[in-house]
Amino acid sequence: MVTVRIERIEDMTAIRALNMKAFGQAAEGEIIDKLRRSCPEILSLVADDNGRVAGHILFSPVVIEGEKGRLFGMGLGPMAVLPELQRQGIGAQLIETGLSMLRQRGCSFVVVVGHPEYYPRFGFERASKYQLSCQWENVPEEAFMVLVLDEQRLDDVKGVVRYREEFNAAG
Ligand SMILES: CC(C)(COP(=O)(O)OP(=O)(O)OC[C@H]1O[C@@H](n2cnc3c(N)ncnc32)[C@H](O)[C@@H]1OP(=O)(O)O)[C@@H](O)C(=O)NCCC(=O)NCCS
Repeated sequence: MVTVRIERIEDMTAIRALNMKAFGQAAEGEIIDKLRRSCPEILSLVADDNGRVAGHILFSPVVIEGEKGRLFGMGLGPMAVLPELQRQGIGAQLIETGLSMLRQRGCSFVVVVGHPEYYPRFGFERASKYQLSCQWENVPEEAFMVLVLDEQRLDDVKGVVRYREEFNAAG
């Protein structure tokens, strides 16, 4: 049975290996390792399949630097599931558990750069609908999405949503 829980120190090696397998490169695992060291506000969850790390999701702080003020939220990603276990709902379980924890913590919004067919099922919409844009110019408009958790707080704040510097360093 797969259960989603907060990562533990002893999961670190397995999380790195999982990201390597799912993405075929080390960049995502390196971002996760860096953020774990530098940013206590991250939410890092694993899908635990009877003691094996079958999936992982990271949420890290993002900020909108609007003309009328700043608003902090969270960015979803990277997320990875072991290739042999994909398309069985583990990704969805990671997302749903993460979002419910963020709701409880009073998070105002969550953004994601990802497949426009996948994330709307969790309530994500095009960020451009809220006049929010992505800091990276090569991201297509439909791939940058937002889940609004507190519409009132987002009402007055529009602009570019910035991820932590650790994402840029990876290129
Ligand atoms: C994306 C990922 C985490 C999804 O995990 P998962 O456990 O397979 O997800 P679920 O079983 O909950 O959902 C499967 C859905 O994801 C969608 N999906 C998964 N990979 C996709 C892809 N590469 N392109 C488009 N849609 C994809 C499909 O629509 C599928 O829905 P369907 O079964 O209704 O067709 C997993 O495929 C993965 O690790 N991919 C490689 C790493 C990656 O690209 N991460 C996302 C970017 S950070």
